[in-house]
Amino acid sequence: MTDNSLTNLLERVRTLGADGVREIRDCSEIAGLEALRIKYLGKKSEFITLKSEMGRLPAEDKPRFGKDYNESRQKLEGELSRRQVGFEQEIRARRLSDEVIDVTLPGRDPVSGHLHPLTRGCREISTIFREMGFEVASGPDIEDEFHNFEALNIPEDHPARDMQDTFYIHGGGVLRTHTSPVQIRLMRSRKPPLAVIAPGRVYRCDDDATHSAMFTQIEGFLVGRDVRMSDLKGVLERLIQCYFGSGRAMRMRPSFFPFTEPSAEIDILWKNHRGEEEWLEVLGSGMIHPTVLENVGYDPKEVNGFAFGLGVERFVMLKHGITNIRYFYENDIRFLRQF
Ligand code: FA5
Repeated sequence: MTDNSLTNLLERVRTLGADGVREIRDCSEIAGLEALRIKYLGKKSEFITLKSEMGRLPAEDKPRFGKDYNESRQKLEGELSRRQVGFEQEIRARRLSDEVIDVTLPGRDPVSGHLHPLTRGCREISTIFREMGFEVASGPDIEDEFHNFEALNIPEDHPARDMQDTFYIHGGGVLRTHTSPVQIRLMRSRKPPLAVIAPGRVYRCDDDATHSAMFTQIEGFLVGRDVRMSDLKGVLERLIQCYFGSGRAMRMRPSFFPFTEPSAEIDILWKNHRGEEEWLEVLGSGMIHPTVLENVGYDPKEVNGFAFGLGVERFVMLKHGITNIRYFYENDIRFLRQF
């Protein structure tokens, strides 16, 4: 009876192991493998049942049964893990071949932006002056009337002070109409010799193809001893030559500014939006007025200097043949892309 029972249990263990190994070998996907692991080794599996039945065997049969049981179970576990590894390798191999990167394919060009033409113009002009020994400074966009007008010898009845020309701010102050107030700020806080440029935005009630309500100026001034008009002319000629290249037609003609005496403007020849050749004014300049030097606490008998203020938009327009100043502010990609 005991022998039969042992025989019977041994047969069941052998069959169970052999069936399991066969099923695991025939399994075609990793999910099925998990189902077989539960079927053969899970809590409710035949192996567990058989193990509990071992308890009913006489003590002398237990080692024999235990040995076969363990062997059978180990074979099944071995087969399970072998197949598991096999499936994982297959999956990895498939993924590697699916995700293969062809390094010989041509790359995609990244879309790169670039500086706005005005920013570039500003930088180019600033570099020309830095190479001549000028330092770069800045001042506030919102000015007081003292720095924007009075200290610059601009009289009360000057048209620039008119409400039509200047943006006044409620409660006091103006949007600066030029970068010349930076001259005043610097000269009041520093002693000569000074050679400075000051780029920045300025604001006026202006609007046509060559005038904008907001535009960019670069102020420049040099103060020291025995500064002459010919020094100013030399510096400005060098600027024009470096920026536009040699041979660009320019003229320097007498002008008037309350803060310089004598004063001069520079024009450059161009073709306007109607295709007509004409002179376009690009900057105002002159020898700093003695009253301005006094206003900042300098002695005009000891020091003198020159100053100028140029329109950056006009420089860039002339260099690239842009006939309408509004293109700079419209952010039209077709325009910007050309630079
Ligand atoms: C002035 O603003 C003086 N402060 C320049 C100066 C500085 C003279 C130091 C002497 C000594 P004016 O208003 O002419 O000057 O302007 C200077 C330049 O700015 C012009 O030559 C022109 O190139 C440019 N500009 C003037 N108004 C506009 C505008 N509305 N839009 C675009 N550019 C302008």
